[in-house]
Amino acid sequence: MTEGANVDLASLEKLGEGYEAEIFAWEDGQALRLFREGYEGNVEPERVAIPAALAGGIPAPRIGEALSLGGRAGTLMERIHGENLLDLVGRKPWLLARESWETGRIHAKLNALPAPEGIATVHERSQEWIGSVEVPPHLAALARETLEGLEGGDRFCHCDFHAGNILLERGGRRVVIDWGSCAAGPPEADAARTVTHLRLGEPLDPSPAMRVLPRLFRPLAAFAYLRGYRQVAPFDTALMWRWVVVRAIEYLVTVRAIRPSEADIPRRVAAVEGLVTLAQKRAGGEPRLSRRQPPAGSCCSQVRSHGRQRRAHQGGCRRTFEPTVGLSPVDRA
Ligand SMILES: Nc1ncnc2c1ncn2[C@@H]1O[C@H](COP(=O)(O)OP(=O)(O)OP(=O)(O)O)[C@@H](O)[C@H]1O
Ligand SMILES: [Mg+2]
Repeated sequence: MTEGANVDLASLEKLGEGYEAEIFAWEDGQALRLFREGYEGNVEPERVAIPAALAGGIPAPRIGEALSLGGRAGTLMERIHGENLLDLVGRKPWLLARESWETGRIHAKLNALPAPEGIATVHERSQEWIGSVEVPPHLAALARETLEGLEGGDRFCHCDFHAGNILLERGGRRVVIDWGSCAAGPPEADAARTVTHLRLGEPLDPSPAMRVLPRLFRPLAAFAYLRGYRQVAPFDTALMWRWVVVRAIEYLVTVRAIRPSEADIPRRVAAVEGLVTLAQKRAGGEPRLSRRQPPAGSCCSQVRSHGRQRRAHQGGCRRTFEPTVGLSPVDRA
């Protein structure tokens, strides 16, 4: 990896940022995607995924050389001149259904491709987050148990396919970015990630409209997305909901780079538990989460209870996210 030693980060124009990386304008029509600490493991998968996506007919920014700056890993890539669909829909909410539908169609085309050689499987990827401090023990156990009953696959999964990761160019081309989490797996696992995102996702720096819009229109976006997806390729809906159980729990780790305030953690856990219960019902099984007693002393018994106890918990409970399951490599670093 080349070291961009004599470049001052502060002198670069920032094009955007997300939970995983910051993106800066670079010379020669390129952009530098500079990963946040803890995400350097996503550099290589992205470098494998993008050429494979392009070869399979999925628009993506052409990849340039790997480049580190200020001790952070990064990748040069084609700079795309276009707005991401999340921002676009924030400005023009009437486009929500159409863009969600388009997102579903592109996603189905990607998932129809075989995964490139050399990327991890969704099951392997799950092992990276399942023991993280952000995941309470009872949810980690449920994720493990659910994963054991889910088959792998060999399709090309982006694993973070959402409106914020699609840029719309002037000519109407929709370019898919942010390939660092890609994996080989079944299409249902990838669609489940998107459905989870549509239900739980929170833009990093939302405009006033984006604070309200997602809450109001999440079901419409999910409906249009799934409709678009199924028009290109049908999939097993019950199986997709089983994957949502896993993906919802994984969602707790998404915000790791920009840590939420401790008071916010119970709210996130409660939202994840709500989606897990819904997913279990939609998958056709008995919801088991509500019957499962978390280990004595874990925060989650308090998260689920109401009234005074819950408010006390929101005041901050340091014990909550002690690494009772074990630290992931990222957390140990
Ligand atoms: N190649 C590019 N050309 C121009 N702008 C880009 C490019 N890649 C990313 N951006 C801008 O930066 C924003 C964030 O990029 P990206 O999705 O790669 O970050 P991230 O941290 O991986 O996101 P996430 O929160 O989904 O993990 C995009 O929405 C877009 O506005
Ligand atoms: Mg992104």
